[in-house]
Amino acid sequence: MKAVVYKEPFEVAVETVSDPKIEHPNDAIVRITSSCICGSDLHMYEGRTAAEPGIVFGHENMGVIEEVGSAVKDRKVGDRVVMPFNVACGFCKNCLGGYTGFCTTVNPGFAGGAYGYVAMGPWVGGQAEYLQVPFADFNCLLLPQGKEHESDFALLADIFPTGYHGAELAGVRPGESVAVFGAGPVGLMAAYSCLLRGAAEVYSIDHVKERLDTAASIGAIPINYDNANPVQQIKDLRKGTGVDKGIDAVGYQATSAGSSAAGGEQDEIPNIVLNQIIDVVNPTGALGIPGLYVPSDPGGIDDNAKKGALSINFGKLFEKGLRLGTGQCNVKQYNAYLRDLIIAERANPSFVVSHTIPLNDAPDAYSKFDKRVEGYTKVILNP
Ligand SMILES: NC(=O)c1ccc[n+]([C@@H]2O[C@H](COP(=O)([O-])OP(=O)(O)OC[C@H]3O[C@@H](n4cnc5c(N)ncnc54)[C@H](O)[C@@H]3O)[C@@H](O)[C@H]2O)c1
Ligand SMILES: [Zn+2]
Ligand SMILES: [Zn+2]
Repeated sequence: MKAVVYKEPFEVAVETVSDPKIEHPNDAIVRITSSCICGSDLHMYEGRTAAEPGIVFGHENMGVIEEVGSAVKDRKVGDRVVMPFNVACGFCKNCLGGYTGFCTTVNPGFAGGAYGYVAMGPWVGGQAEYLQVPFADFNCLLLPQGKEHESDFALLADIFPTGYHGAELAGVRPGESVAVFGAGPVGLMAAYSCLLRGAAEVYSIDHVKERLDTAASIGAIPINYDNANPVQQIKDLRKGTGVDKGIDAVGYQATSAGSSAAGGEQDEIPNIVLNQIIDVVNPTGALGIPGLYVPSDPGGIDDNAKKGALSINFGKLFEKGLRLGTGQCNVKQYNAYLRDLIIAERANPSFVVSHTIPLNDAPDAYSKFDKRVEGYTKVILNP
């Protein structure tokens, strides 16, 4: 089958790899209809992880079941399904607690597995024609038959639940004010989720014009951090006070101000957003941090950053009595409910999708998405 294969930093290729097979009676083989490129893939693409050449990317996968193993009882050939990016067993202690992003069965020696991702186990990615799905009854979320809402449902694999998880970690409640750093796909989904949960005011901070325009289109208040310190901009708009809740949907590759579209100079400052959300959230508030931080970053700006050891203003965090939550999203906690919001036409997350293209065009799409040019916000690949 054809698949998107990582070659070296800043290069992927569409190559022929071996077809996945039923290896265990619990497996299913899914024929992929949509697989998205994620900001998390870019960390590997840029050589900013320990990912080795040869890995097939793709953890945001949707399709139709082509074949099932003899122990798969509930899912059937022909079912239309979307898979959480987390590979999970459903029966380990963490899965039983709902923490399917920290499954201890699927990636021995580690808590958490995913398709097509470095250090997340042997699971091959789905930016390909077919995907092997283990524990298929547990991992395949059933969707209505047909072609309706294809792009909305594809986002249930990761970014819609992950954005929602950011709001959940911060405990966003009706009437609250929230600052969401990053208006990439995850940040936009976080802002959208805050609004779905009834937030009164949502600030969306980024410096990519198209992304800020998209944030404004759903009712968030865009803040361009190229113009001035975003914390000060928000406090100025709020007559001197901060906000109730903060979400970091940027992660460790955060940059300083500088025009991205012009390819202008931007320094990477891995702790900048962490310190800004501590600064902008009012005392007794809470921070949700779905943005990725890693314990090993070959391209880190100094020896500490290379080990993921970042300097944050913990004194201020303590003084303000702030709570914080981090980590991989446990997609299973939310995906069925968010699916039903889509079916009920109460959520249409696909407003973030900027490009839907054939699998063969993946190398060009990676390059453009990585540069955040030409409006590349969220790309869906159709094999
Ligand atoms: N926790 C999870 O389960 C999970 C799942 C998916 C993605 N992620 C992570 O979420 C993060 C966002 O993902 P994405 O797909 O939206 O990525 P993305 O790279 O497309 O978006 C990040 C955005 O942050 C902006 N940004 C950079 N520096 C900033 C700053 N100082 N202030 C404000 N904005 C800034 C960029 O311009 C960009 O638009 C990534 O770190 C990704 O790995 C986590
Ligand atoms: Zn993703
Ligand atoms: Zn498990």
